[in-house]
Amino acid sequence: MTGNLILSNVTRQFGETTAVDRVSLSIQPGQFVGVIGRSGAGKSTLLRLINRLIDPGSGSVSFDGVEVTALKGKALRAWRRDCAMIFQQFNLVDRLDVLTNVLIGRLAEHGFLSSMAMRFTEEERAMAIQALDRLDLVPQALQRAGTLSGGQQQRVAIAKALVQQPKIMLADEPIASLDPANATRVMDGLKQINTEDGLTVLVNLHTLDTARAYCDRIVAMRAGRVMFDGTAHQLTDDVVRDIYGLDGFAEFNEAVTSTTARATGRVNEPA
Ligand SMILES: Nc1ncnc2c1ncn2[C@@H]1O[C@H](COP(=O)(O)OP(=O)(O)OP(=O)(O)O)[C@@H](O)[C@H]1O
Ligand SMILES: [Mg+2]
Repeated sequence: MTGNLILSNVTRQFGETTAVDRVSLSIQPGQFVGVIGRSGAGKSTLLRLINRLIDPGSGSVSFDGVEVTALKGKALRAWRRDCAMIFQQFNLVDRLDVLTNVLIGRLAEHGFLSSMAMRFTEEERAMAIQALDRLDLVPQALQRAGTLSGGQQQRVAIAKALVQQPKIMLADEPIASLDPANATRVMDGLKQINTEDGLTVLVNLHTLDTARAYCDRIVAMRAGRVMFDGTAHQLTDDVVRDIYGLDGFAEFNEAVTSTTARATGRVNEPA
C-alpha cells in the first residue's frame, strides 16, 4: 500500500472537445495539490475521471497499483467512497440537521434497508460529532443545514466527507461561491485535515492566490493539457501569462485584487 495516485496519458473527449488531453500525473500520499486554469481548461473533468464519475477515452488511472478505470460494481462503489468529493454547491440536504447530513456520509457503508431507515450506530454518531468538532461546528449540530452560512455548509460537507474515511479528498472549486472570510475557513479546514491525517487533497481553484497560499504543488491546465506542475515558488508571472493568456491574466488579476487579496490581507503579487 503506497497511496500513490498515478494518471498516465489520460484523455477524455466530448464530441470535438478534448477536455483532458494526455494528462500524466503522479500524486504522492499526503500532498496538497491545487489545480488551476481558465474556465473550460479541464479541471472538473480531471477530478471526475479520477473518481470515475466519467470514464477516460484512453489512458490509465491507478491507485495503490490498482487500475481504477477497470473497476466495476462493488469495487467501483468502494473506490468512489475512497475518493471523497466536495463540490462548489455543498450538496447537503437543507431540511435535515447538520449531524444527520454528516451521517449521510456513512450511508455507503450500510445496506439498503438500514440506509432507508437512516439508522446509525453510536460509534457512527461519535465519529460524526468528532468530525464536526474538527471543523468547529458542534454548536450547529442540531441546526437545519439550510440555515447555515455558505462557509459553514461547506465545512459540514467536509465533515461528511471525513466520516466516509476516504483515502483521497477531491474538491471542485470548494470556495467559489464563498466570501473571503468563509473561503479562508474552508481552506484552513482542508489544510488541517491534510496535515493532521496525511490525507491527500486535490483541489480545483480559480484564484491563483489561494493556490499559492495553501498548495504544496500546483498543476496548471490549459485546453486539457498540463502546462505547469511545480511549487508556488516556481510559478512565475511568465508561466501564469502562458496559462491564462494575456486577456485572462488581466481579468484574473482584477478578480484577485477584488476578492482574495482582501481575505488574505496579502498584496497581489503579479504586477
Ligand atoms: N459532459 C460534458 N459534455 C460535453 N462537454 C463537456 C462535458 N464536460 C465538460 N465538457 C467540456 O470539456 C471542457 C472542459 O470542461 P471542464 O468542466 O472540465 O472545465 P473546468 O476547467 O472545470 O472549467 P470551469 O473553471 O468553468 O469549471 C469544456 O470545453 C467543457 O465544455
Ligand atoms: Mg470546473
